[in-house]
Amino acid sequence: MALILGLESSCDETAAALVTSDRQILAHALAGQEAAHRPFGGVVPEIAARAHVEVLTPLIARALDEAGVTLGDVDAIAATAGPGLIGGVMVGLVTGKALALAAAKPLVAVNHLEGHALSPRLAAPDLAFPYLLLLVSGGHCQLLEVRGPGDYRRLATTIDDAAGEAFDKSAKVLGLGFPGGPAVERAAAAGDPHRVPLPRPLVGSGEPHFSFAGLKSAVLRAHESGRWSVEDIAASFQQAVIDCLLDRTRIALRKAQRPTALVVAGGVAANNGVRAALQALAAEHGLPFVAPPLWLCTDNAAMIAWAGAERFAAGLTDPLDVAARARWPLDADAEAARGAGVKA
Ligand code: KG4
Ligand code: ZN
Repeated sequence: MALILGLESSCDETAAALVTSDRQILAHALAGQEAAHRPFGGVVPEIAARAHVEVLTPLIARALDEAGVTLGDVDAIAATAGPGLIGGVMVGLVTGKALALAAAKPLVAVNHLEGHALSPRLAAPDLAFPYLLLLVSGGHCQLLEVRGPGDYRRLATTIDDAAGEAFDKSAKVLGLGFPGGPAVERAAAAGDPHRVPLPRPLVGSGEPHFSFAGLKSAVLRAHESGRWSVEDIAASFQQAVIDCLLDRTRIALRKAQRPTALVVAGGVAANNGVRAALQALAAEHGLPFVAPPLWLCTDNAAMIAWAGAERFAAGLTDPLDVAARARWPLDADAEAARGAGVKA
């Protein structure tokens, strides 16, 4: 049994966790930065990096304390090395390197996306490779065939915004606050999902890529027209996103090679409508549906520790001069989606 310390700091959550290779989560400490970013309606990279510097070391101490272990008991240190906001990534990775050097422990440089991709296996021990993963968060919107640690085939990505980003931007337009996902879901509960005509970008196309920028613009126009209530726009927007996710995942299921399950991860997986629709799609295909508990779906360090455990077990450790990366695709061979912007 191996004990892994995981560190996460690639966006606006600072986190440290201790997880064992037999899936015990001994501690997971997390500090969000929502209040610091709220006045700006989105994550400000420089504010995020400074906040990580302030809270990461005390969080690590708290996690070790909660778990009742010392750094000497740890078998490897796993830190997110990208992709993400580079200032924050560097804070976590440099801290991980310093601890690895001081305690003479191996370092595992974890791709944040791999953290999300493998996290369902921390919660569901029976989940076997390969599975089809819909990764939907504020920074990512991808369909991945997860074959094993370090072994991914990307079937689709977004050509513009991520689904969570569309929730956040639409919430801003509708005056619903930040973070947008939960606010839109609450407003949507009081609205009619079929009331406001909104586009379903790329639905019906043969490749399972995503696009949400046009939908966000349509939300803005609908709001400015003054014809519909915020609740009806929120509900119709959420329905449009669900329709897109469902149609695209259906195409990916056709392209995936004998997946054992349909799995969802990332912050948007917290959305009840999204989960219900995917569950129905999995059932339609006779596949189990796996969604990790919500706290494991959004950014956290337990998923980084677990990805570290899987990589460590496979002999995949990294030298102390490994670089932090703002962009780091999981599947280096995947072709860029046509019209792709800057998303990894
Ligand atoms: O995985 P995550 O915590 O961070 C990233 O790596 O991006 O995902 C955060 C994203 C945000 O865009 C947030 O608005 C969205 O997940 N989100 C939701 C819900 N809860 C969080 N989107 C829709 N419905 C929700 N209930
Ligand atoms: Zn994430």
